[in-house]
Amino acid sequence: MAEQFDVAVIGAGAAGMMCASVAGQRGLRVVLVDHASKLAEKIRISGGGRCNFTNVNAGPANYLSGNPHFCKSALSRYTAQDFISLVKSYRIAYHEKHKGQLFCDNSAEQIIAMLQAECAKGRVQWRMPCKVAGVDQTATGFVLHTDGGEIAAKSVVVATGGLSIPKIGATDFAFRLAKKFGLEVVEPRPGLVPLTFHGPDWTPFVPLAGVALEVDVETGSRKGKGARYGHFREDLLFTHRGLSGPAILQISSFWTPGTPISLNLLPELDLAAELIEHKSSTKKHLHNLLAQWMPARLADGLISAAGLQPDARLADLPDARLRALGAAANAWSIVPDGSEGYRKAEVTLGGVATRELSQQSMMAQKVHGLYFIGEAVDVTGWLGGYNFQWAWASGVAAGQAL
Ligand code: FDA
Repeated sequence: MAEQFDVAVIGAGAAGMMCASVAGQRGLRVVLVDHASKLAEKIRISGGGRCNFTNVNAGPANYLSGNPHFCKSALSRYTAQDFISLVKSYRIAYHEKHKGQLFCDNSAEQIIAMLQAECAKGRVQWRMPCKVAGVDQTATGFVLHTDGGEIAAKSVVVATGGLSIPKIGATDFAFRLAKKFGLEVVEPRPGLVPLTFHGPDWTPFVPLAGVALEVDVETGSRKGKGARYGHFREDLLFTHRGLSGPAILQISSFWTPGTPISLNLLPELDLAAELIEHKSSTKKHLHNLLAQWMPARLADGLISAAGLQPDARLADLPDARLRALGAAANAWSIVPDGSEGYRKAEVTLGGVATRELSQQSMMAQKVHGLYFIGEAVDVTGWLGGYNFQWAWASGVAAGQAL
C-alpha cells in the first residue's frame, strides 16, 4: 500500500526545500524526496561556501529564457527583500559583496539549516537518500516508484535542477519526466562556464594563466528573432585552458558555439590614440609603456600576438601597427572552441519550456497537478545570486498554488 501525501516534491535543493516548506506551512501533507545522501550540496558549495543567496537588484532583465516575461510573476511576488527578511529572521549575518550580491558572513550551511527549519515548521516528511525510478499518473493524482516503496500524492513538484556538476548528483530527471508527459524541453546546455581556446591564435596567451583584469566583454547580436546579446564589465581570468572569471562566466550564457566573443582589455583607454599621441614624447619601450595599463605578462602576449618586439620604440613604429595593437587590446575578437561543460558549469540553460507551464503556479498546462520549479525550468539567471532568487521565487509560487 503506497504512502499517501498531498504533495511529493522531488529534489531537496534550493527550490524543492522552499516549495515544500511553503506548502507544508499551509497545512498540506508534504513529502520531500532526494536521491543524494548529503543534503543540498549545491547550496553548500555555492558562493565559495558562503552562498550568494540573492541579489538586491534581481529582476526579469537578469534572466535568459525562451520567454523573458515568464519569470516576472514569480519574481514580483517573492522578491529578494522577502528572502532577506527570512534570512534576517534567522539572524544569519550577511554582507553585500559586489553589484548587489548578498553572501552569508559565515557559511552556506546556515541557509541549508534555515530551509530545514522552515520545512520542519511545515511538518515536511523526508525520504533521503531515496531514488525515484519513475512517476505515473493515477485516477487520484500520481504515484512515485522509489527504491523505498511507492509514494502516492495528489500533486508532484519536480525540483531536480539541471545537469551542472554531475559528481554531486545532478541528473536529467526533470527533462526525462517532462518528455514522458509530453512537455517540450528546450535543449539544455552549460551556462556560467569557463570557455576553452586552442590553436595558433591562442598560443601567445598560453603562458598567461593566472593573469586577471577588469574588461568589457560582449557577444551575440540584438537583431533577429530569438537573437541573444550579452555585454558585461567584470573581471577576466586567464586559465591553463582558456578564459574564466566573472566576465567569461556571464558571457558564456549568451555565447553560441562557433561565434566570437569580443573583449576590451582596456575599457577606460583608447590604446591606439594614446600610443600615437605619445609617439614623439616618450622614449619608453613598447612593453614598458603597455605594462603601465595592464599586467606585464598580458602586455607581452599582446605584443607577441601583434608580431612586434617588446623592446621596440614607439617612435619607430608606423601608426598603422599601433592602430592594430590598439584594436587587439580594445576590440579583441576571438572564437572559443568550446566550454568546460557541465563539469564546471554553474547552471544549465534551457530546460522545461516555459510555454508548457503556468507562470502563476508553475503547473504544467497539460498535466494537472504536475509542477516544475527552479533550474529545471527554462529560466536561467546571470551570475550573482540570481539563480537562487529564481529557485526561491518559483518554489514559493508553486508552494502557494498547490
Ligand atoms: P538544485 O540543483 O539545487 O537541487 C536539485 C536537487 O535534486 C538536488 O538535491 C539533487 O540531489 C536532487 N536530484 C537530482 N536528480 C534527482 C533524482 N533523479 N531523484 C531525486 N533527487 C534528484 N546560484 C546563486 O544564485 N548563487 C551562488 O552563489 C551560486 N553558486 C553556485 C556555485 C556552483 C559551484 C554551482 C554548481 C552553482 C551555483 N549556483 C549559484 C547555482 C545554484 O546552485 C542553482 O541554480 C540552484 O541550486 C538551483 O536550485 P534547484 O533547487 O533548482 O536545483
